[in-house]
Amino acid sequence: MPHHLSSLGEKLTARSGILELMDDLGNALQAGPSVRMLGGGNPARIPAVEAEWRRRMDALLKDGDRFERMLAHYDTSQGQKAFIRALVQTLRETFGWEITERNIAITNGSQNAFFYLFALLAGRDSGGRDRQILLPLVPEYIGYADQALAPQAFLGMPPAIDYIGNHHFKYCVQLDALPQDTSLAALCLSRPTNPSGNVVTDPEIRALASFAGDQGVPLIVDSAYGAPFPNILFVETTPYWDRNVILSLSLSKLGLPGTRTGILIADEPWIEAIVSMNAVVSLANGNLGQTLVRPMLEDGTLLRMSREVIQPFYLEKSRQAQAWIQEFFPDDLPYRVHLSEGALFLWMWFPGLPIPSAELYRRLKQRDVLVISGHYFFYGLPEPDAHSRECIRITYSQSDEMVREGLRIIAEEVMRAFGG
Ligand SMILES: Cc1ncc(COP(=O)(O)O)c(C=O)c1O
Repeated sequence: MPHHLSSLGEKLTARSGILELMDDLGNALQAGPSVRMLGGGNPARIPAVEAEWRRRMDALLKDGDRFERMLAHYDTSQGQKAFIRALVQTLRETFGWEITERNIAITNGSQNAFFYLFALLAGRDSGGRDRQILLPLVPEYIGYADQALAPQAFLGMPPAIDYIGNHHFKYCVQLDALPQDTSLAALCLSRPTNPSGNVVTDPEIRALASFAGDQGVPLIVDSAYGAPFPNILFVETTPYWDRNVILSLSLSKLGLPGTRTGILIADEPWIEAIVSMNAVVSLANGNLGQTLVRPMLEDGTLLRMSREVIQPFYLEKSRQAQAWIQEFFPDDLPYRVHLSEGALFLWMWFPGLPIPSAELYRRLKQRDVLVISGHYFFYGLPEPDAHSRECIRITYSQSDEMVREGLRIIAEEVMRAFGG
């Protein structure tokens, strides 16, 4: 490590939560097949979906010199024109959004897009005012937490909790507590939410869009798991976009994380800013994902596959995992599962847990079960409360044996923690 790092360098090389997590998950995977990996955010390998990628790759290889052209050319910094055209067509037809090719930019994964957005928006503006990103519902995706370059870039709002029966709950946005603060830079939320599997409701999203509009700041909606692809959504919702919304999509959770393809849909000035940043940082994007998927947008396969294969696959996995939770967790144990409304995770809350969730994580790891301690996802809050130390995130997309055995061991360890 060089002796003199810039303050920015120091910030980006500090042990961030996301780095720790990625390391831990990576090391555990290398440790071998005995580890029950319920920690990662990797999409499942779905045979019918993988067969489709293979078919499309075969077709690409057989189609004249299309393969060589893909490899040999830098795209524009905005992305592949034909891919963007196909997306515009799909989004206009599916949702009726009045967008053109000037409303879309491609990035090297949506993680990269968020880095750009937070760099553009958060921190001291030219008028000397420090501007923050409002996270209207925390717990929120940990991948944002260390991305902003400005200090105290996030202002998080704890959720209201809707208690459902003995063993369920749902987070709601505290709309009446939105800060009437003039120093916001943007609002940002994932929908469905990583980690909780919550889907912010249509009335909530409309209220947030209206609030953002009143404040003169954009509403960033991260649809990495949502509509129109991969559509890992188990409740009826309407995808929302207007000119004040910066909507982020990704090809990753379709099963293509290796292609690093993120998509932003926004008003022209935002897209122009992102394209400029992309030129500076990356020159151009990787184009394999765009090349593979473009024909699937044009012939409708991508949305059909999301609706008919991917969504039912995850819905069934989620139901099955919840049935195992019911089987393994005694009814009198204090546990609650967030309503599984989308994404790849079950979010469990153990009210009154006598040990912090980080300790539960360690005990589970000793038994070869990897989950993610919930405390990572509570950031930007003035005072994290007990709830933030009582939750874990469980990925349910792995093999049935792994998920079942993992849940059985989690139940045992939670009982032990409660002195049972
Ligand atoms: C909510 C959310 N947003 C964005 C990302 C980033 O995904 P990618 O960079 O692969 O598009 C992830 C990845 O797990 C995520 O969970």
